[in-house]
Amino acid sequence: MWKILLLVVIFSLTTGVVEAYLSDLGDQKSEDADIDARVRKFLQSPTRSWYGMSVPDVDGQALHDIVIQHGYKNALEIGTSVGRSAIWIAWALSKPGGRLITIEIDPGAYREALANFRATGLDKYIDARLGDAHKIVPELQGPFDFVFCDADKDWYINYLDAVLPKLAVGGCFAAHNVSEGFLGGFGRRGRFGFGRGGDSFLEHARSIPYLETTVLDLRGSAGLSVSYKRAAK
Ligand SMILES: C[S@@+](CC[C@H](N)C(=O)[O-])C[C@H]1O[C@@H](n2cnc3c(N)ncnc32)[C@H](O)[C@@H]1O
Repeated sequence: MWKILLLVVIFSLTTGVVEAYLSDLGDQKSEDADIDARVRKFLQSPTRSWYGMSVPDVDGQALHDIVIQHGYKNALEIGTSVGRSAIWIAWALSKPGGRLITIEIDPGAYREALANFRATGLDKYIDARLGDAHKIVPELQGPFDFVFCDADKDWYINYLDAVLPKLAVGGCFAAHNVSEGFLGGFGRRGRFGFGRGGDSFLEHARSIPYLETTVLDLRGSAGLSVSYKRAAK
């Protein structure tokens, strides 16, 4: 008799666990669908803000796809502006439950980004920080498996050097507004920093033996390089 009772108890417990699991799965699916719809709506409307230029869709899509393809979960963005690229990245991260830290120095852009993150439902996947990335990036603990660099161009080399020890093997450091014909073109000119010749981010990245750096060949791209870390350093 007690054996039958034991079987009944085990059966009920197992059914309960399976039901709870299926219900969680259903909740996750409907949350994903909700986020997908809100993100698509956001991305369909062009970013009208005057704050720093947002990535074109072709670059946003590439960032999203890189994160999905590699299963990255711990991302960092330097230069949030109003959050368009962060939304592409966090959209991809939301599927495996990853997280993005994004840094912006301008309070107005930061506030607008926060509103955009809430509007898309991605705010729970994004840790948005207001401040100077020159100071914040070296203090971050990591590890990161994906980094998108899109702030002051004349500081890219410093950002790469600061992040590399915290980048996981197999991780990717993507940099925006980089192109083959513009090797020395980053500069110290105002906050967005285009202009000065001399320092070459691409040359620097390619001089690091355990990094594999290419510029993506994408029609309509504003120049997107990817550097994959191939060994522990
Ligand atoms: C090109 S915009 C970023 C666009 C954004 N990644 C997107 O595609 O939606 C560059 C941003 O970097 C920010 N920025 C520049 N220098 C910075 C610094 N030292 N620390 C943090 N943010 C900085 C600017 O205020 C600006 O909003």
